[in-house]
Amino acid sequence: MSGKGSRLRPPKGKPPRGAVRVVQKAAHREQDQAPRAEVAPATKATGEARRSIVTGRRPAALAWAQLTRPLATEDGIRLLFFGVTGSGKTTGIKDLLKYIVDNNLIDLVLIHDVKKPEKQYDGEVVHEARQILTTPPTTYPAVRVMRKRGLDHMPSVEDAARVTLEAGYDGHATMLVIDEFQRALTDGGKFESQSVRRIFCEGLGLHASVIAGKQLPQLVPTEATGQSSKIYFRESREGTNYLVDDKKMTKELADVVVALPTGSFIMMPEERDFDGFIYEVPAP
Ligand SMILES: Nc1ncnc2c1ncn2[C@@H]1O[C@H](COP(=O)(O)OP(=O)(O)OP(=O)(O)O)[C@@H](O)[C@H]1O
Ligand SMILES: [Mg+2]
Repeated sequence: MSGKGSRLRPPKGKPPRGAVRVVQKAAHREQDQAPRAEVAPATKATGEARRSIVTGRRPAALAWAQLTRPLATEDGIRLLFFGVTGSGKTTGIKDLLKYIVDNNLIDLVLIHDVKKPEKQYDGEVVHEARQILTTPPTTYPAVRVMRKRGLDHMPSVEDAARVTLEAGYDGHATMLVIDEFQRALTDGGKFESQSVRRIFCEGLGLHASVIAGKQLPQLVPTEATGQSSKIYFRESREGTNYLVDDKKMTKELADVVVALPTGSFIMMPEERDFDGFIYEVPAP
């Protein structure tokens, strides 16, 4: 492993991420203290005035700052993006990746991008993740987008996750993005890719991070949901009913989530509750 990984070593002259992170931490603090934005209307059409559980709106960058904080101390992060088709998941993930790359928070980003005929993410195309080991990046942060080679080819999510684990273990903070999480799962909602499962379970200490997008919150392994921060773009009633029945979301929050406009989300950081804010991703 060390032989393969060592080929990924950032070239001489690359600024150490640590140095940049000191500045980044200060930026987090500033953003955390940003004043609350406008307050949402506090009534409900029940006849009786009721206080809304939404206390304000914030730019998505404030969510990104909070969710990526563990990267500053070399820990991995696990994020799940949920939302119906067209709700803004991919656009949101792209905005988060821009934040991560701009702030030099990760060495290597591997993106599994096979959903659409056209490439959705920015970055150099590869067809299999192992190409990164034979042709290592010359500059960092490096972003590689895994695309099909042809009609009958599918880049292996398992290989991409394995490379993520190997590179992370070798000291390169690495992030796997699975635009369509179903590619790593069985139809029954279990992990098909055992290395993706390992990133969710062990990645925190291995410099390995994962972001996965899915339309419905059903049929997601508990190893994934239990150890991740959840980002909810607009969901269907079917999706929120499942979350309410499973006691993962209150009925009041479900009403907020089904009504979110495209590009807006709420978040539930790991082990934490809804913070009262609707976050807004800038238009692409
Ligand atoms: N923040 C935003 N502001 C304005 N328009 C947006 C925003 N995010 C997305 N859109 C619009 O909605 C369209 C769908 O967005 P996107 O592809 O991100 O959705 P998605 O949830 O990933 O959908 P799918 O599940 O089909 O992959 C985009 O092409 C864009 O036109
Ligand atoms: Mg998408």
